[in-house]
Amino acid sequence: MGTRIGLGLLGLGTVGAGVAEILQNPEGRHPLIGELELVRVAVRDLQRSRPVELPAAVLTTDPETVVDDPAVQVVVEVMGGIEPARTLIMRAIAAGKSVVTANKAVIAHHGEEIASAAAAAGVYVLIEAAVGGGIPIIEPLKQSLGGNRIERVSGIINGTTNYILTRMAQEGAAYQAVLKDAQDLGYAEADPAADVEGLDAADKIAILSGLAFGGPIERAAIPTQGISTLQSRDVDYAKQLGYVVKLLAVAERLQTTTQDQTSLPLALRVQPTLIPNEHPLAGVNGVNNAILVEGDPIGRVMFYGPGAGAGPTASAVVADILNIAGIRQLENANGCLDPLLAANSWRACHLVHPNAIQQRNYVRFKAKNAPGVIGQIGNCFGACDISIQSIVQFDASEADAEIVVITHEVSQGQMHDALKAITNLPEIKGLIAHLGCL
Ligand code: NAP
Ligand code: HSE
Repeated sequence: MGTRIGLGLLGLGTVGAGVAEILQNPEGRHPLIGELELVRVAVRDLQRSRPVELPAAVLTTDPETVVDDPAVQVVVEVMGGIEPARTLIMRAIAAGKSVVTANKAVIAHHGEEIASAAAAAGVYVLIEAAVGGGIPIIEPLKQSLGGNRIERVSGIINGTTNYILTRMAQEGAAYQAVLKDAQDLGYAEADPAADVEGLDAADKIAILSGLAFGGPIERAAIPTQGISTLQSRDVDYAKQLGYVVKLLAVAERLQTTTQDQTSLPLALRVQPTLIPNEHPLAGVNGVNNAILVEGDPIGRVMFYGPGAGAGPTASAVVADILNIAGIRQLENANGCLDPLLAANSWRACHLVHPNAIQQRNYVRFKAKNAPGVIGQIGNCFGACDISIQSIVQFDASEADAEIVVITHEVSQGQMHDALKAITNLPEIKGLIAHLGCL
């Protein structure tokens, strides 16, 4: 394809190791990944054992040497915290290098300064991983939803607190024990107070609002309440009233009666909030996040998925790296299109025979209401090595019965053989329905 792109990784913790893992295993992924080369990696402790193996010469405890290395064209900042992350990002920009970062704190607090420097230097700073872990939400706000007037952005945007609240509500687990689990799973920030006090969610809603509404957001002015003082009694009372309690972040445009069009009035908040059981956000559990975007004319769209953890976050980081790689190819080759935007095929694909499709099945038969019919149906499924999840007889009138079967996952070839045998039984009057079942 094009020229190789040297990456400098600042941090090899949860997210950094997830990124290295993807880069080391490009098979089956977009071919542009094969063009990426991990040149240098900064860590704090060279002796620490890592889930990925890298040549010793790649690792350094001096992050500036990573940024300054002439073989590094794109700097990937996944070390976290405000400093030295901010200074290193600014140094990369000054050197004409694009940056990918997962660091919401630095973007929420210094995003304007960083964006201005990047614009002046003609480089990109991409931040998909900074909000919602693996959920694509930054690109949709920047591009896919560009035709809308956004009215409201709200959601569950901290995986750690959602994981804690879910386990407390579903298992009655103790707060401290679940927080420790969230840390062990790599969900929590280095200082988990950022999660449980709502600061991380406030950073993220500041970033989302800036993109959705088009102006800089004063991060320090966002009213923020975390879950550390939330009492289980209030969670219980909420449950009895038909609600679940979630740490919700909200940003909405206010209607203004004045003619002052110079600045858009916005209301932002982060707060434990009662959500009615039937609301789409009520079923967002565990480490999952979800973001509702409401706009004109689209109405309401929801983005849902894993909001933290190595793999999901690395997925978003690598997507940003690929975007930059695609743009570089575009710049380097006259007449070449951005390979990601053009989305040309890059390998052969074929559809397997329908008999090879594996799925669970729902089938309904009309049968004579005679002794032993259910047993015969069961035998036919068993003979085709199909395991039945449930078999129920409905509506047994004098002559006919309706028999509904739900199978475990099987190939459609097996299913076809079993249904043929069953519909040949003299007691079976017909196969009335055959549906898929998730
Ligand atoms: P982490 O596990 O604590 O990893 C941080 C890495 O940075 C470590 O490898 C550490 O080195 C290195 N490091 C820190 N300070 C350094 C310094 N001054 N010089 C050299 N190396 C330094 O953190 P993480 O969970 O991967 O998070 C990284 C960033 O991604 C944060 O901004 C976080 O908010 C963001 N993020 C995380 C997640 C998630 O699920 N974890 C999701 C989305 C976004 P050592 O390994 O030697 O200590
Ligand atoms: N600590 C963050 C969370 C990581 O739990 O959501 C993902 O940004």
